[in-house]
Amino acid sequence: TSAPTSANSAVATAATAIVNIASLVTNDPSLGDGTPLGLIQDAAVVIDGDRVVWVGESSKAPATDNRVDAGGRAVIPGFVDSHSHLVFAGDRTAEFNARMSGQPYKAGGIRTTVAATRAATDAELSANVARYLHEALRQGTTTFETKSGYGLTVEDEARALRIAAEHTDEVTYLGAHIVSPDYADDPAAYVELVTGEMLDACAPYARWVDVFCEKGAFDGDQARAILTAGRAKGLHPRVHANQLTHGPGVQLAVELDAASADHCTHLTDADVDALASGSTVATLLPGAEFSTRAQWPNARRLLDAGVTVALSTDCNPGSSFTSSVPFCIALAVRDMGMTPDEAVWSATAGGAAALRRTDVGRLTAGSRADLTVLDAPSHVHLAYRPGVPLVSEVWRAGVRVV
Ligand code: NIG
Ligand code: FE
Repeated sequence: TSAPTSANSAVATAATAIVNIASLVTNDPSLGDGTPLGLIQDAAVVIDGDRVVWVGESSKAPATDNRVDAGGRAVIPGFVDSHSHLVFAGDRTAEFNARMSGQPYKAGGIRTTVAATRAATDAELSANVARYLHEALRQGTTTFETKSGYGLTVEDEARALRIAAEHTDEVTYLGAHIVSPDYADDPAAYVELVTGEMLDACAPYARWVDVFCEKGAFDGDQARAILTAGRAKGLHPRVHANQLTHGPGVQLAVELDAASADHCTHLTDADVDALASGSTVATLLPGAEFSTRAQWPNARRLLDAGVTVALSTDCNPGSSFTSSVPFCIALAVRDMGMTPDEAVWSATAGGAAALRRTDVGRLTAGSRADLTVLDAPSHVHLAYRPGVPLVSEVWRAGVRVV
């Protein structure tokens, strides 16, 4: 991936200019209003092939053969959803119903989805991934990470990752989601499988290794063994950390320079300090707290400490069955102390940082031409008008796809 710069490139006349954009989020602070969003009013974006080649004021847009009038709508970078679990079958409606009648969320519900996923055909799983990816795309998501974790055998985990890799480049090996029910009496043997034969079978399809570090899943020592084994096979760590209870996940993530510590709901000051001192992104997943009626992660505390925050859906049938980044933005603004600007940054540039990508999550010369046109004059409307389908066009790699 080429490193984007804020200097505009030479523009071929065959390029396409999207003009008359009321406000454009570039996420380049050297542009526009100079805030982290690099907001340009009355803007244009010029696309050549799959790349952005020019951004600036609409009146200064270079001459191009193709012009698209945005009609005074807002444009933002396509959302980068850096955390989802899409390779699954079935759903957990009954569990959700029980929870909304007062039952607590338990990680053990994952077993229900494991059974359904193992029983599904490859074609069913692939169709499911495609369906939820399409759902996300219609809501403005142009980069999507997804994980295994509902197979928990060598064959089923490798199959999940092979299927995921047919749909996205951002694939994460989560053989360590919970201890497989087949190993309930011998968790150590399951960790051995996850760090040995299963890892060997899965590594070719994945970019990342993840572990659910939580009471009832994997403890700090097990998580460390799993992440370091993955790293030795060329996978980079990310961690489900401090979701349901306080634990060692966040500290471990920072120590291993994980790209991201995900959830970050139960944090001590030492956890916040660790995140602020390292380059591990804190990925907040408010869909999970919404759907489990849990306490919100405190985004304000993390931002005030200087931590890079990403906002993603965690789309999965158990704890967060939403593919909607706009919904997560609205929750983050309403309940987690984020400003609309911060939430939109976290769902675009923040997600890119959590995937260590510089080609997406921003709109400057050199970045991939992934953008979302909103039926609104400003990105603020994503939080101001919750639940309203504001995504009116989506462009991915220079092609209009919605
Ligand atoms: O991110 N935390 C672990 N994994 C998922 C939940 C998966 C499930 O309940 O099926 C999560 O919330
Ligand atoms: Fe998750």
